[in-house]
Amino acid sequence: MALPFLIVAIDGGAAAGKSTTARALSARFNLLHVDTGSYYRAVTHELLRLGVATDDPGAIAAAAAGLALGTRVEGRNARIEIAGRGVEEADLRGPAVNAAVSHFAAVPAVRAALLAYQRDQARVAREGGFAGLVMEGRDIGTVIFPEADFRFFLHADPAERARRRAAEGQQDSIAERDRLDSSRKASPLQCPAGATDLDSTHLSLEEVVARVSAPIAARFAAGA
Ligand code: CDP
Repeated sequence: MALPFLIVAIDGGAAAGKSTTARALSARFNLLHVDTGSYYRAVTHELLRLGVATDDPGAIAAAAAGLALGTRVEGRNARIEIAGRGVEEADLRGPAVNAAVSHFAAVPAVRAALLAYQRDQARVAREGGFAGLVMEGRDIGTVIFPEADFRFFLHADPAERARRRAAEGQQDSIAERDRLDSSRKASPLQCPAGATDLDSTHLSLEEVVARVSAPIAARFAAGA
């Protein structure tokens, strides 16, 4: 029986539990894990390195169009490379990137620079022998893969999300990023129509993963 190649989209606000859920699905079903937030973070790091200001749309568009993007698969993770270089995890999650990322991500030219690249991750997953891919972000179920086999939207109380981020030891204004991400014109953060909406405020990680995994396990069990 041929196994299907499945695309799973997980969207949600900052610290809503997307990454931990996506990692668990990736391990259980052998899916390539694609964290598109890390892509926006890497592009932000590069634009800052080039000295591009967050309030200069012309310079942002010019720089974004010139980025040479590649992918390195590390275990089950897809890592972005810019001009053949990866970006250190500490730099991706540092305060400078935290403060700038939602500003750059609101610029259509930045989103356009990443659109085809993100869709192409399905090819990377197939060529890498994965059973599918799980992609997390803000606009995966709405814009990148609206036809995904499964689309989930995770949310949690702002206080609970702030607690989770602080527990990770990170200095991050998640409420401000959510405000910018939800109110922008280009691909705003929203629950995709028809997606499964899950409030994780009072659920453990195991419970979230169990709920998200059940229909995927059933699909794999049913075959192509
Ligand atoms: O991990 P966390 O939830 O804090 O955020 P992230 O997933 O690393 O995303 C960082 C930022 O990238 C978000 O606040 C958005 O501004 C932007 N982003 C986006 O616009 N579209 C995506 N598909 C993913 C991230």
